[in-house]
Amino acid sequence: MTPARDFGSHSRHAQLPPRSNERFASPRLVTSPNGKVVHTADGRELVMRSIESGDITAVQRCFKRLSPQDVRRRFMHAMSELPLSMAQRLCRIDPELEAAYVLMDETMTPAELRGVGRIFVDEAANSAEFSVLVEREWTRIGLGALLMQQLVDESRRRGLTELWGYVLMENRPMLQLCKELGFVAKMMPGEAGTAQISLKL
Ligand SMILES: CC(C)(COP(=O)(O)OP(=O)(O)OC[C@H]1O[C@@H](n2cnc3c(N)ncnc32)[C@H](O)[C@@H]1OP(=O)(O)O)[C@@H](O)C(=O)NCCC(=O)NCCS
Repeated sequence: MTPARDFGSHSRHAQLPPRSNERFASPRLVTSPNGKVVHTADGRELVMRSIESGDITAVQRCFKRLSPQDVRRRFMHAMSELPLSMAQRLCRIDPELEAAYVLMDETMTPAELRGVGRIFVDEAANSAEFSVLVEREWTRIGLGALLMQQLVDESRRRGLTELWGYVLMENRPMLQLCKELGFVAKMMPGEAGTAQISLKL
């Protein structure tokens, strides 16, 4: 069990919400034929499922809603647009080497993509590189932690021994999220602004 956070008196502590990586304990995740229905603590609903080739336009629309900072943090460099070929590549995955999970907002038509997490397997190293993204208006409600946990579970299911990723040192939200999930960070020699974070599985 994760130790309780020490924020002073017991009564104040009792009012804290659960840590984000505990918020999606099974009662909030309901399996449906389309994937898992995710009920957020603030009453919103999403469906988590594997990415599909039909998600290309939703991926493109999601990219247009991202801030330049989010784009840089996710792709590690600035990009003013997501080329169609790249959107296609992100949606048409090779299931042997990749897994990607999307959080779809099906309360509207067409459904909108609010978050995505993926792994890319390095067979030689028996490890996988991850990436994750949650749309700004949907952050701080545990979705990043949910996607990361899904990636950890999938990596373990594949028998991989390590899950790792590159994170910009200024990306405090991601570094904090990974720390909460037990990842450790190490500096990249020759790349001052980037950390490699990893979790032994
Ligand atoms: C980083 C990112 C995935 C976090 O997603 P999220 O849905 O907000 O994450 P969660 O709500 O699950 O937060 C989990 C924990 O991360 C930490 N965290 C998240 N956002 C934070 C912020 N803005 N400041 C400080 N800590 C933060 C907190 O410890 C949080 O737990 P808490 O809410 O109990 O305090 C999201 O901000 C994002 O997509 N950023 C742009 C893309 C990116 O940076 N990707 C990572 C590189 S691959």
